[in-house]
Amino acid sequence: MNFDQYLDQVFVHEDDILKMVKAGIVERGMPAIFVPTVTGAALNWLIQVSGSRDVLEIGALGGYSGIWLARALPAGGTLTSLELRPDYRDVALANLTRAGFKDRVAYRVGPAAESLAQLEDEGRTFDFFFIDADKDNYPIYLDYAVRLARPGAIITADNTLQGGRVLDPEITSPAVEAIRAFNQHAADHPRLQSLILPIGDGLTVARVVS
Ligand code: DHB
Ligand code: MG
Repeated sequence: MNFDQYLDQVFVHEDDILKMVKAGIVERGMPAIFVPTVTGAALNWLIQVSGSRDVLEIGALGGYSGIWLARALPAGGTLTSLELRPDYRDVALANLTRAGFKDRVAYRVGPAAESLAQLEDEGRTFDFFFIDADKDNYPIYLDYAVRLARPGAIITADNTLQGGRVLDPEITSPAVEAIRAFNQHAADHPRLQSLILPIGDGLTVARVVS
């Protein structure tokens, strides 16, 4: 048993709604890409412990991670979620509705960088960010997140160890190089205090300081 499996066995449990959502996404033939349960639980924990109220997710896919995020919201809290594809948004909204969050979630369809520019134009700000979309654009999404962040906000990103491949200097595939650039950017950013939690596929966590 590895560490994540141990966490799943002892600490983290996926309930029937999450299991059903996962099965439904697979049945539709959508990409079977879900945050690991430990990552979902860590995001949920971080939102609650930080008292975050308004959460922005970049990359919704079928709404599986969205449910982990929405479940952490306080009364009156909101989830805004960006998704490239309208058909995936439809699935995500149906799943969030099934989980009881229809009135708390707002999706924006289209390239995330365009939605982020819109949110900035509208003067929107957030307490918590979860970046989990196309890896090449992670550095751009990080810059937007810092600009949309309230003081003390937390920015997180999935897949930042790439199965451990970021640690192997011989591996120079585009996704791995993009994530290395992202992690370096998070580490060097003057307004961020950043770390990677080595759970799941690697979860970068950064706190926005002024
Ligand atoms: C991929 C993307 C993800 O965000 C993830 O968690 C796993 C895999 C992918 O693009 O293959
Ligand atoms: Mg991911």
